[in-house]
Amino acid sequence: MKYGHFDDKNREYVITNPCTPWPWINYLGSEDFFSLISNSAGGYSFYKDAKFRRITRYRYNNVPMDSGGKYFYIKDGDSIWSPGWKPCKTELDSYECRHGMNYTVITGEKNGVSASVLYFVPLKTWAEVQKLTLTNNSGEVKKLKVFSFVEWCLWNAASDMENFQRNFSTGEVEIQGSVIYHKTEYKERRDHYAYYSVNVPVQGFDTDRESFFDLYNGFDEPQVVAEGKSHNSEAHGWSPIASHYIEAELKPGESKDFIFVLGYVENNADEKWESKNIINKRKAKETIAKFNTSSKVDAALDDLRKYWDNLLSIYTIDSGDEKLDRMVNIWNQYQCMITFCFSRSASFFESGIGRGMGFRDSNQDLIGFVHQIPGRARERIIDIASTQFPDGGCYHQYQPMTKRGNNDIGGGFNDDPMWLIFGTAGYIKETGDFNILDEMVPFDNDPSSARSLFDHLTVSFDHVIDNLGPHGLPLIGRADWNDCLNLNCFSNDPDESFQTTENKTEGSKAESVMIAGLFVVYGRDYIDLCIKSGKSAEADRAQKHVEAMIATIRKHGWDGEWFIRAYDYYGRKVGSHENEEGKIFIESQGMCTMAGIGLNEGLCTKALNAVKERLDCQHGIVLNNPAFTKYYIEYGEISSYPAGYKENAGVFCHNNPWIMIGETVVGNGDRAWEYYRKICPSYLEEISDLHKTEPYVYAQMIAGKDAYKPGEAKNSWLTGTASWNFYAITQYILGIRPDFDGLLIDPCIPTHWKGFKATRKFRGDTYRIEVLNPDGKSKGVKTVIVDDLPYKSNLIPVFGDGKEHKVKVVLG
Ligand code: GLC
Ligand code: GLC
Repeated sequence: MKYGHFDDKNREYVITNPCTPWPWINYLGSEDFFSLISNSAGGYSFYKDAKFRRITRYRYNNVPMDSGGKYFYIKDGDSIWSPGWKPCKTELDSYECRHGMNYTVITGEKNGVSASVLYFVPLKTWAEVQKLTLTNNSGEVKKLKVFSFVEWCLWNAASDMENFQRNFSTGEVEIQGSVIYHKTEYKERRDHYAYYSVNVPVQGFDTDRESFFDLYNGFDEPQVVAEGKSHNSEAHGWSPIASHYIEAELKPGESKDFIFVLGYVENNADEKWESKNIINKRKAKETIAKFNTSSKVDAALDDLRKYWDNLLSIYTIDSGDEKLDRMVNIWNQYQCMITFCFSRSASFFESGIGRGMGFRDSNQDLIGFVHQIPGRARERIIDIASTQFPDGGCYHQYQPMTKRGNNDIGGGFNDDPMWLIFGTAGYIKETGDFNILDEMVPFDNDPSSARSLFDHLTVSFDHVIDNLGPHGLPLIGRADWNDCLNLNCFSNDPDESFQTTENKTEGSKAESVMIAGLFVVYGRDYIDLCIKSGKSAEADRAQKHVEAMIATIRKHGWDGEWFIRAYDYYGRKVGSHENEEGKIFIESQGMCTMAGIGLNEGLCTKALNAVKERLDCQHGIVLNNPAFTKYYIEYGEISSYPAGYKENAGVFCHNNPWIMIGETVVGNGDRAWEYYRKICPSYLEEISDLHKTEPYVYAQMIAGKDAYKPGEAKNSWLTGTASWNFYAITQYILGIRPDFDGLLIDPCIPTHWKGFKATRKFRGDTYRIEVLNPDGKSKGVKTVIVDDLPYKSNLIPVFGDGKEHKVKVVLG
């Protein structure tokens, strides 16, 4: 069953039934000020850091689900309703939610009145703007009462949920005209406050939650709305809120706009106050004035649309398959931007409190985003590298506000360093900016330790070879890419974290074939970077290590039919036919086939056939098989999950693309495509009831074949799945791949495709690409024609003239 439809022309997903199987959300803002908004206006806002600068409050995992948000209540005679259906849940005559590129429009209609709310964060603005449009479609005059509502969070989202003995006494507000200011803790150490305004005089307001709702009412029945009159309450402690009360009279056919601004301000210490206890409101007023008319708001929305027009013009395809086109051209790129901004911090599955920016996650995220705003990817690479340790190890996460490594989690995830090479090489392939390698970058944020970024890549590479185990394979440390394969943890205590507990690292022999494959794939990028930088001795040295690793994998990492996954603490195989459960894992098949290990001897094909046979199912490729059915203390968290979920044999969508790319290495375009389609959300729209999460974005995990409910997805939005699928489809299946010296066109498509067209902007030039497949092949370029002349290779040069160039590639 479907709950809406795609509107590709407007780049929107249109939800027409508010009772989606899970809140289907969108993100507003792309730089500093952010909001999450569900299809019924649930969600919250924050400035930069979802933990430390939470502006509005949200209640997670509540009853009902998705409680708290940016609500409007409309009282039309005795009828009280909300445009997003919730929280009132009054039956509407019509409902529609349009999630677009960083904006959302929610429209409800009841008894001849339509209320439509546009929500967005204008570019370069520290505020969310809401334009409420009321239209009287009836034949009579309508006298409406409108109440807005937001609830302030007392800034630190974690303590806001627990330290009530303090919180209930700290809340402070100021009310001036139609603006409500939340100045809690501003008097002491904070240099910031928030505000909520409306561009018309109000008939009343409320700032104290209990006065607004009454202590025993829910979001669906505020006392004030029922009475049809504000209490003009002033919050002192307890839970401060902001609600405006507006009376609106509309003639038949008449429409009126009301513009609300929910903003954030920072002031220098010497500019904090206007007078004693009265905050300096200058910056708030400036922002409010920028958006105080409909035409200003419409112009700002137009700017946002143009911004996205530009971002999404860099890579576009015309494949003849609308489901594919809408993913590649719109939604997958959009999700890549969102994951780039948020890493794994704030979604409807991540509380915004727990996790900062991940070292490995952020490096992978930028691969899906780098073509759009390379300058921000560059900055991100420097930030990430600055949290590395001198020995090449790294903090697993860092905090976005301070950009410092997170000590609670620390380091020891031995795949982390190699991802810095992946991210940096990806950035240089896109931009040609080799200068980034000369940037001086500190270790552990200590400026006195700064060395070139190139040196950071060298210590990343060396961290692997300095930490080899008894078979010559990389030691796994706390975990590799799979956070839950904890081979040194040995935890018997439910109060310990699998990620941070290592009970047996000293003298551990646990080794990872996944890291070995990763080392080969991106070690080759490192070698290329050495060569391009004129460091030939270093290139030779690295080459020897990569070759040695290939030999080691072939000797100790091959199980006969597939690649083994690891060696455990005791030196026993993990992911081998010898094991009772978890005989085969996806990660090592993905990395080692991407590396082409044993390609000529048929090892890759064998491994991929084993994946097809043992891991593939209707909903995608599961992570391991057979699923673990009991707890293995020597494997850690992976075996803590029920079979079929998450890392224990769930379809972990993040690494399905590794197999897709592996299939392109062996030239099997049919299978690569089959795997792509299986987990691609636009192809799952029809089964939304089962799939549950948004049909326009990827989820991290779909329950696998061993699960109670195979096919049910979880953890949508913030997942490396976004960038990896974009990378796999655009660079390996469609095969348009930035390389150090040009744009490589090397598709590996399904044999039944006749071809496709694409436009790729690359280093200032525009490539109009046409791929033809007259002979029903998957892979192999027969002829290349550039600007109507035959060309010698499928590596198309950088023309550097800023013009359009026609590239015609015929497979055969
Ligand atoms: C989560 C983490 C990612 C990890 C993956 C597998 O998606 O964000 O870092 O690689 O799980 O455990
Ligand atoms: C859990 C999840 C994993 C995630 C990790 C992050 O182990 O299963 O996906 O990466 O938490 O801490």
